Amino acid sequence: MLLEKSAFEEANVDPIEQLIDDIANKGFGVIQNFLSFTETLALKNIANNAYENEVMRPAGIGKNDNYRVAERIRGDYIKWIDKNSAFPETLNFLERIDNLKTKLKRGLYLGIQDIECHFAIYPSGSFYKKHLDQHQHTKTRVLTFVCYLNESWLPDYGGAFRAYHEIGNEELYTDIFPECGKLVCFRSDLIEHEVMPVFTERYSITGWMLDSLIL
Ligand code: OGA
Ligand code: MN
Repeated sequence: MLLEKSAFEEANVDPIEQLIDDIANKGFGVIQNFLSFTETLALKNIANNAYENEVMRPAGIGKNDNYRVAERIRGDYIKWIDKNSAFPETLNFLERIDNLKTKLKRGLYLGIQDIECHFAIYPSGSFYKKHLDQHQHTKTRVLTFVCYLNESWLPDYGGAFRAYHEIGNEELYTDIFPECGKLVCFRSDLIEHEVMPVFTERYSITGWMLDSLIL
């Protein structure tokens, strides 16, 4: 007998359980409405104020001595989040992420200790070429999460998050648009990805769940 999930059961799948399954099976997954519209806009405003006050800095690549700004690779502006000076809306976001961390850690049997994250703005015309997030560093990036802060998004704006996956010898990809309150989460060591060229400003919080210090 063919067992199919009824629409009712489908609708009742816990989005975090679904995310755990998707990360386990294909290395990445999405939660459509991780943040509400109101929460998203509050965070977008915080990012926008930082951008207008020139507190956001061009992002770079590499770590420590290798760190440099490389506009031909990535063109976003970032501001790291420091919980000691964060606004209540940002603290609320961090609490949500902490909750998610606890569930992902249990569901995926991963060693995760810490979180680091930053606001990001991609100005019109910018992109981030195909890359992997895990690199040699004092802390190991285990999972990446990106939460999108754009109130509305049209396909014409470009700016998809493109996740690459291999099936057999074929390289396939999935495009995910940076829509309001959506969260993508993926294995930092496995999933190559890029941000397609964007034709309007694109807002997000990007962060990593980190394993313990490597001594
Ligand atoms: C990154 C990154 C993806 C995105 O910041 O490392 O790949 O969709 N971001 O913003
Ligand atoms: Mn990345």
